Amino acid sequence: MADDRAPSGPSGPWTLARALAPASVAIVGAKDSSSTSYGVVEALSRVGFEGQIFAVNRSGAPAHGLTAASSCAAIGEPMDAAVLLVPAAAVSDVLEDVAEAGIRTAVILSGGWAEAGPEGMARQRTLASRAGELGVTPFGPNCLGFLNVAERTGAWIASVPADVRPGPVAIVSQSGGVGNALADLAGEFGVGLSCVVTTGNEAMVTTTDVLEYLVEDQCTSSIAMFAEAISSPARFLAAAARARELGKAIVILKAGSSALAARNAVTHTGSLVGDDRVVDAALRQSGVVRVRSLEELIVTADVMAAAGPLRAPGIAVVSISGGSVDIVADEADRLGLDLPPFGEPAGEEIRAVLPGFATVQNPLDITGAALGDEFAKVLAIVDRQDDFGAVAVLSNVPSYDSSKVPGICGLLSTIGTGLGSITLPGFLLSQTIAHLNETGRDAVRGAGVSALPGLSLGVAALARLSRWSRWLQSDAARADRPAPARNPGQLGDFPASGPSGTVSEWRARELLEPAGVPFVPAALARSPGEAADFAATLACPVAVKLVSPDVPHKSDIGAVRLGVAGEDAVREAFGAVLSAGRVHRAGSRVEGVQISPMRSGGVELLVGVTRDPQWGLAIAVGLGGIFAEVVADIAVRLLPVTACDIEEMLTELRGSAVLDGIRGEPAVDRGALVGAIAGIADAAWGIGDALESLEVNPLRADHRGAEALDALIVFRAAHQKDGAA
Ligand SMILES: Nc1ncnc2c1ncn2[C@@H]1O[C@H](COP(=O)(O)OP(=O)(O)O)[C@@H](O)[C@H]1O
Ligand SMILES: [Mg+2]
Repeated sequence: MADDRAPSGPSGPWTLARALAPASVAIVGAKDSSSTSYGVVEALSRVGFEGQIFAVNRSGAPAHGLTAASSCAAIGEPMDAAVLLVPAAAVSDVLEDVAEAGIRTAVILSGGWAEAGPEGMARQRTLASRAGELGVTPFGPNCLGFLNVAERTGAWIASVPADVRPGPVAIVSQSGGVGNALADLAGEFGVGLSCVVTTGNEAMVTTTDVLEYLVEDQCTSSIAMFAEAISSPARFLAAAARARELGKAIVILKAGSSALAARNAVTHTGSLVGDDRVVDAALRQSGVVRVRSLEELIVTADVMAAAGPLRAPGIAVVSISGGSVDIVADEADRLGLDLPPFGEPAGEEIRAVLPGFATVQNPLDITGAALGDEFAKVLAIVDRQDDFGAVAVLSNVPSYDSSKVPGICGLLSTIGTGLGSITLPGFLLSQTIAHLNETGRDAVRGAGVSALPGLSLGVAALARLSRWSRWLQSDAARADRPAPARNPGQLGDFPASGPSGTVSEWRARELLEPAGVPFVPAALARSPGEAADFAATLACPVAVKLVSPDVPHKSDIGAVRLGVAGEDAVREAFGAVLSAGRVHRAGSRVEGVQISPMRSGGVELLVGVTRDPQWGLAIAVGLGGIFAEVVADIAVRLLPVTACDIEEMLTELRGSAVLDGIRGEPAVDRGALVGAIAGIADAAWGIGDALESLEVNPLRADHRGAEALDALIVFRAAHQKDGAA
């Protein structure tokens, strides 16, 4: 938490909670002609701030009707926060003044710091360290500050929606502009806010600091986060674990997913698993809900806060305005929203309430005609079904046309009363994203339900709520996940032997087999005669491969011969793979030639472990063997993983049906496959810091079991081992 780094002073330990709740605010650079400083005053008034506000400018000229002073120190009263509207060049002087005045929080608007190149970066570092010495916690620079709606305070340098209202959703955004847009949208959608914090260049306070604070904040039930990068991954994950314990959702829009910094890696896994796949895995494994748009971010956070974890993942949809039921059904199907059928006797009970309505299905169309006590009765029946965790009522909501308002308000109050009398959380799902007029908004709020703006956003948010709730109940979410011990002895100390840290397939096998990874049988032949002898004992066609730490991709250079049958052919293949190695690179070290029985049929998978500089070791599982790169159908998780995670990864693959057997092939032995993958994962985790990457490609699976047909390990040079996970 920022608190660790933020200084303590005479007034006791400084916490982010205190920084975010100033009782008095000095606006440095305030002048009457400035709409920016006016905006700060206006924002404070919008949230009902009742503390002192001072205008500070060089001449001490009054501004916006506030008492003015020529410096913070000249105010002569203790102040909590200063908003610095001065240019970057003036910031360091103002910071000294701020500290002299005993102010502990400074919100810095100006740009021209780290975002402006190396010089700016150096200036920002100096700023941060000086702030630290002075005991001032800076927000930004290059940020819009924070708005604490719940505590009716802030230091916010942007617009505030006219109808901002307190509520359980917190917003944290690296970008000030995005934070501002999100706050505006929350107002537009009627979403109540606890606070909005922007962190800008994060000279000191980061989004992760703010996240840690918000997770514990009593006024916050869900957190909407926008970030381009996640700072301090380990602390981020710990905050996510704490949020899970408290049943609070973290919803994130993480930008930069297209900038796939595919790594320059020896193994294919490295290039398959871009940075974003690893981030995605980290978020998924920690129960953080990822969205792709700002609208989804606000609506999803709203839904999560309103409902909290559902008792069951199923959602019942009751439609009043008909028409759109099929759209809901289609969207639900597309987005994986769980809409369980009503079942019996619930169906029978509903039919009894709604005579003449033959099709009792979910979504249920009861039409406006059944809005008497039928509606409440249907809701009560739904409420008794264990399959459901929430109810969404599909209805028109009053928008531009005020002439419709009175009728719709009546309808909304019926819906509100109905939803209010059941235990399940309820939502109003409007058909479109149409702007609500003020009366409409009041009516929806009066009904005491969250109105979800339109079917696309609404169904998507409900689907995420449902999935998150299911995840919270799953094994994957268990806080006490056992982490396999590192360096399980048998792996010993294997130094890198290839120029880029690679070891031969044979050496990789020697490491992985004792760690529980099943391999196709093999022998290492050092002469054509040995090769032929071993092939003869196998009495079947064999695979003949060059074994060299300098040839990580053997078939690329013709160093693999498949389906070799008969003594002469084996002898010939022995010579051929050796000379392929020599042609590839003179002086390639050769450990021998590997002879294995030819396997056929089954499914080839790629299982790879790669190191992400930020998040540590990640495992990828994909279908396709040698085609994996083209098909790119992979599932990714951070290590360590449980068998349960591995099962989930297999299910997640687009081509997962292949594992269940297609074209008359029997289903693969899932248990054996999961066991083999777990062996690879544990071995990689056991190698730990010394591992750069590890790949088993292919891992072949059929109904009898799973075996590795190839393996490649890349070790890190000693100087690369930084102790990172
Ligand atoms: N014992 C075997 N039985 C059947 N096919 C094999 C066997 N060993 C290798 N192969 C096939 O040959 C391909 C290339 O062999 P592999 O050892 O993976 O070499 P590379 O170093 O090029 O990845 C594998 O992807 C697999 O399809
Ligand atoms: Mg291979």
